[in-house]
Amino acid sequence: MSERKFLWGSATASYQCEGAWNVDEKAESMWDKYLHENNLENGDVASDHYHHYKEDIRLMAEGGQNAYRFSISWPRVIKNKEGDINPKGIAFYSDLIDECLKNGIEPYVTCYHWDLPQYWQDEGGWLNKDVAYAFKHYCEVLFKAFNGRVRYWSTFNEPKWFIFSGYMSGNYPPCHVNQVQEVIECCYHVMLANALAIQSFKEMKIEGEIGMVASYQTIYADKDDEAYQQAIRNADNYCNNWQVETACVGAFPSDMVEKLKKQGYDLSFAKAEDLKVIHDHTVDFIGLNYYSPQYVMPYQGGETVVKVNNQGKNYKGNLHTVVKDWFEINDELMKQLPHNPWGMVIYPQGLYDAIKRCSKYHVPMYITENGLGMYEDIHQNGIHDTERIDYIREHVRCLLKAKEDGYDINGYFVWSPFDLYSWKNGCEKRYGLVAVDFENDCKRIPKDSYYWYRDEIKNNWEDLKK
Ligand code: NOJ
Repeated sequence: MSERKFLWGSATASYQCEGAWNVDEKAESMWDKYLHENNLENGDVASDHYHHYKEDIRLMAEGGQNAYRFSISWPRVIKNKEGDINPKGIAFYSDLIDECLKNGIEPYVTCYHWDLPQYWQDEGGWLNKDVAYAFKHYCEVLFKAFNGRVRYWSTFNEPKWFIFSGYMSGNYPPCHVNQVQEVIECCYHVMLANALAIQSFKEMKIEGEIGMVASYQTIYADKDDEAYQQAIRNADNYCNNWQVETACVGAFPSDMVEKLKKQGYDLSFAKAEDLKVIHDHTVDFIGLNYYSPQYVMPYQGGETVVKVNNQGKNYKGNLHTVVKDWFEINDELMKQLPHNPWGMVIYPQGLYDAIKRCSKYHVPMYITENGLGMYEDIHQNGIHDTERIDYIREHVRCLLKAKEDGYDINGYFVWSPFDLYSWKNGCEKRYGLVAVDFENDCKRIPKDSYYWYRDEIKNNWEDLKK
C-alpha cells in the first residue's frame, strides 16, 4: 500500500464554474453552442470562477482543504483543429495553479470534463478517431506547460456520463437517442484517448502521476439467484467496468465484448494496434465519483429506455431504465430507499463497497467526487444545510472505515467547493459548501457545511496521525 499524503479537497469542472465563455480568445465548446442554440440555461457566467478564483482558493485554504480538483477547458487552451495554442488560456490556468500552490493546495487537474471544442464536434466528436489524437496533442500541451507544478493528472472525468447522455438518453449534446452502436464507438475512442495521453505522459517523463476519473455506481440486487447475479454483472459492466477495469487492467471486460458481438454490434473498428496502446498504458491511480448505488433485476422485456431526471422535484415521469437483454433498474425498491429530490438513492455504505470492489485492481484510489445537490434559499441569515452535512459525514465515515480496513484510499473531494451550474439541472441544484448568489455579482457566502467540513478535516487529520 502506498504512503501518500491524504488529500482533503473539493472538485469543480471548467464549464460548470468558470463563466467567461468568450473572453481571452477562448473557442466555442459544444456546450456553448448547444445551450445557446436551444435557448437553455447556460454557463456563460456560471460562478464566474474565472474572475473569482483567488477568493475561491483562499476560501478552500481557510476551510482546511489541501487539494483542489478542477478541469481545464480544451477550447480555452487550443484554438483550432490545427492545434494552435492560446497563450491567454495557458496563462489563466498557470495563474490558477500558482494560486493553489501559494495557498498550500495541491492542484488535481482533469484534462477533460465534457467541454469538447465545437470545432471537433463539427467533425463528429468522439465518434471520430482523430479526436483521440487531438486529445493526445492537447494533453501534451498541458503536460509541458504545467510540469513540475501539477503532480496529479486525470485524463477524463466520467466517460460514462458524457457518452451515455450524449448518445443514449440524448439529454446532453449531441443529443442522439438510443444509438448503442455510437455509444460503443465513442467508449472505444475515449479509452484509446486515455491510453494515448498516458503514453505521452510517460514518454515525456512528466513528474507526478496520471489516472482517470470514473463515475461509480455500486450495483446491488435484493435476490441472489443466477439470473440476478447475471443482471448484476451486466449492470456492472454497463455502469462501471468498461471504464474502471479498462483503465486499470488495459483491456475491455471480455464477457462484455462477447455479449456485444453476440447481440450483433459491429466491432470491426477495434484495431489490434489500438488495443495494444490501451493494454500497455494503464493508470497510476483511479478516481471514483460516488453519489449513489443502483438496484437492478433481470431484464424482463421491451426496448432499451434510459431516463434521467433533470427536473428534480418537478419531475412527474417514470424513471424506469431498461437495457435490452442486459438488466433493468429495480425502481420499486429504489423508491423505498432514502433519496434526494432528483431520485438519487442515498447509501453511504455504497462508497465503502465501491472502494472494496475496486481494490482488486491494485492501484491507489481517490474519491474524486461526492456531495449532495439541494434546492436552497441562500438569502437567509446563515445557510443551515444540515442534510448536506449529514450526507458528507456518513460518506466520510465509510471512507475512513475503508482506510482503516487497509484499502488504498488516499483522498476525498466534495462536489463542490461553491455552487455552480449543474448542467441540465441548472444553477438551482446547489452542491456548494459556499453559496454563490448568482443574482448579486456571484457573491460568495459560506454555508454551515463549509465550517463543518473544515473542522471534520482537522479532526480526521489528527486521528490519521495517531
Ligand atoms: C458528476 C459530474 O462529474 C459533474 O459534472 C456533475 O455536476 C456532478 N457529478 C453532480 O451531478
